Amino acid sequence: MYSLLILTCGFLCVTGSPNLRTAILIEKRTEFGQNLFFRGGLDYSRKEGCDSATSLESNPCVIPIQHNISSIDAYKAAKAWSEGDNYLDWSGAEPEQGDWTNIPASGSPAIWTTNDPSKETFNILNTYGDHYWLLDVEMDCGKTLNGFFEVKGFLDGQWENDIKQARKCSGTEAVRRPFESKNHIAKCGAKNVFHFNDGACEISKFD
Ligand SMILES: *[C@@H]1O[C@H](CO)[C@@H](O)[C@H](O)[C@H]1NC(C)=O
Repeated sequence: MYSLLILTCGFLCVTGSPNLRTAILIEKRTEFGQNLFFRGGLDYSRKEGCDSATSLESNPCVIPIQHNISSIDAYKAAKAWSEGDNYLDWSGAEPEQGDWTNIPASGSPAIWTTNDPSKETFNILNTYGDHYWLLDVEMDCGKTLNGFFEVKGFLDGQWENDIKQARKCSGTEAVRRPFESKNHIAKCGAKNVFHFNDGACEISKFD
């Protein structure tokens, strides 16, 4: 335990930008063949130097991610779209991002999950039901705003509606809403559960 603390501090103190596992689930009932993408980062008004003309590498409002998508058949589209998807950002495909059957990505691909353990698409993070679309990534929490960032769904070429998030989410990691936003507000290094077009939220630790 003691050495773990030292290691954690060593890493955090030296780099100042810890990569932590971060999960976002957005519940959205979809038809077979539909694909939900996530877009996000920080609203461009929140930091100096954020605008769409800036490259992803130097934009302070986009957040480096590494996807964790299992190689099952049901996820082959998401897997292809996750190749070269290095940021959670507010645009569609990144310059090096993979396509699938010649269809470009519309953001960061999420995967359809269920809480039914008999299904291949079961995910242990989903204790809720069918249609919980998941983004499971290692995220650079150093690029967030005090550990928080924003996210919105993108489906069939359409943005999710503006969100008025609850003043306080449920869950073990919930705090008072850290800022006002038209997006879901999520915590880096935690499991965040949202609902499409809805302000309800749960933020908790990984078990
Ligand atoms: C990736 O996802 C799998 C399955 O959900 C999980 O068991 C594993 O711990 C995850 N890996 C990381 C690095 O988060």
